[in-house]
Amino acid sequence: MSKKRILTGHRPTGPRHIGHLVGTLENWKRLQDTHECFFLVADLHVLTTGNAQPERIQGNILNMLADWLAAGIDPSRSTIVLQSIIPEHAQLSLLFSMLTTVARLERMPTYKEQIKELNLPPSLGLLTYPVLQAADILLYKAQVVPVGEDQLPHIELARETARRFNQTYGETFPEPEALLSKAARLPGVDNRTMHTSYGNAIYLRDSDEEVERKVMSMYTDPMRIHATDPGHVDGNPVFVYHDIFNPDKAEVAEFKTCYREGKIGDVEVKRRLVEVLNAYLAPLHEKRAEYISHPKMLLEVLFSGTVKAKFIAQQTLEEAYEKMGLLHSQSFSDKVLANNIAGIFC
Ligand code: TRP
Repeated sequence: MSKKRILTGHRPTGPRHIGHLVGTLENWKRLQDTHECFFLVADLHVLTTGNAQPERIQGNILNMLADWLAAGIDPSRSTIVLQSIIPEHAQLSLLFSMLTTVARLERMPTYKEQIKELNLPPSLGLLTYPVLQAADILLYKAQVVPVGEDQLPHIELARETARRFNQTYGETFPEPEALLSKAARLPGVDNRTMHTSYGNAIYLRDSDEEVERKVMSMYTDPMRIHATDPGHVDGNPVFVYHDIFNPDKAEVAEFKTCYREGKIGDVEVKRRLVEVLNAYLAPLHEKRAEYISHPKMLLEVLFSGTVKAKFIAQQTLEEAYEKMGLLHSQSFSDKVLANNIAGIFC
């Protein structure tokens, strides 16, 4: 049986943090064994909020890509696609914009949230963000889309779009299924969700010293003043991290017992976490450094993925044009012209 096809992606907003790693990238890495994977660098989507900082986009793309590769995305097995280089994404999005209503898009929870945060009037591009995302997925006829929970309304729109297209123009697109990541959201060093814009993230590229500085300043148990006070382990990010990153489970269990009994201080538990995290990140740093010191390799990864994706994208767009009754490149072949010309002009 052939492998199911996956398409998923990120907006290149900058370097990836360890929340992306445990929430997403490790999952993507595993999925490469069982699926045919397309990973999209969704750079057009970055433009939707109007504060894209043009001078930073290219650097953000390369930084994100280096992190993906360091985390185990393997370009010899998976296809990495740069959205803006393949115009078919925008073209299919335009066709799909005919299949959904403005009211449907205005009801999107992601849109409603975004307009609350923006202090500008929302652009048309922000409203049609989920239409472009549906085009990203359906252009490759992907069957499975691994995403976080916040993206579910977008996948629902992609499914609706596929259904509507198929009903109107004939069976063309599979209805893609969302695959929810099971990993819990990682807290940031301040115990809110880890997020680039909160300044509470530990990045994959952070040096040993940066990791140390961030971990040592980490939020722990605010009720605990002295190391001899009994401490709380549940919901304490230092222990959340130990649970995820420390391979020595016996040590973690012992830390927890001692912490609850007031027999170990924050500093000791954190010191060990610094070692654990730095050991975890060391192989990623090595891989990342290789790519960063040979940026041409990064461009080659993008180029070869894009060539492969372009071929599929062109075929799907032709098919959609044909089914919607538009002229397409095949319409101009002599044979088709001879057969159809009379019909076209009557
Ligand atoms: N909207 C997604 C996000 O912000 C990024 C994205 C763009 C995407 N196109 C996609 C995700 C297609 C999955 C499939 O995370």
